[in-house]
Amino acid sequence: MKKIFAYVGSRNVSSNTLIQTRKILAALEMKFPGSFDVELYTPNELKIKSATGCKSCFTHGTCPIEQQNIDDSKLLKEKLEEADFIIFASPVYSHNVSADMKAVVERLSYWGHLFKLAGKSGVVLAVADSNGVTFVSDYMEKVFGIMGLNIIDKLNVTSTSPLSQIYVENLAEEIFNYVMGNYEIEVDERVERSFQHYKKMYATLPRSFAEPKYWHENGMFECENLQEYIEVKKGILKN
Ligand SMILES: Cc1cc2nc3c(=O)[nH]c(=O)nc-3n(C[C@H](O)[C@H](O)[C@H](O)COP(=O)(O)O)c2cc1C
Repeated sequence: MKKIFAYVGSRNVSSNTLIQTRKILAALEMKFPGSFDVELYTPNELKIKSATGCKSCFTHGTCPIEQQNIDDSKLLKEKLEEADFIIFASPVYSHNVSADMKAVVERLSYWGHLFKLAGKSGVVLAVADSNGVTFVSDYMEKVFGIMGLNIIDKLNVTSTSPLSQIYVENLAEEIFNYVMGNYEIEVDERVERSFQHYKKMYATLPRSFAEPKYWHENGMFECENLQEYIEVKKGILKN
């Protein structure tokens, strides 16, 4: 069964971000009953610590917090890697993502060099009382997009503009079509430039370094572009 993973960065038990995310999930279940295995986490179930600044993920490909098992980052990464579709939803706190969402972004930063989310689609959702949503959804689009996530929709919700039923039903159809492979992923130009940049840079570095090593192990140097890597990842092309 196809897997949908949603992370809602609000601890508020009556969170509107949670309510709006559940609306999307409910529309999916209504239109395509039993088609998806859905998992939704908030910071109340999934504890993610902020980055310490050690940069071990970039330099060694490992994370001391994860190795010591003192938060749920290992589980978060497993869930994201397993997912066929991802929803990142954040409340707007002082015109920014919540600290919990920011911790997730920080701890996954190095995925922007490894394109770990390439081949997956997702949506980002920002929820505020009245203002700051555009900055927050643009930010999430940028940071998760650079990790390779194909953002199919960027949703901005305020208390006076909740997601309408018709909108979430149309979105549910779109999610279904992406997850089932009926729609092709088109790589964003900026993300492609980033792929070419790292490809060039890592080719000059020793293979023993964590990031070039990952690129070698995953056949990324053999791919002309990110589109080709997605096809290799999905098993459409052999490397
Ligand atoms: C610390 C904090 C900062 C907030 N900053 C903003 C803001 O900048 N703009 C805004 O419109 N709403 C702001 N809000 C309101 C939330 O965006 C609002 O409660 C919204 O429903 C999302 O949060 P929730 O998912 O926890 O309900 C803030 C709320 C908190 C707790």
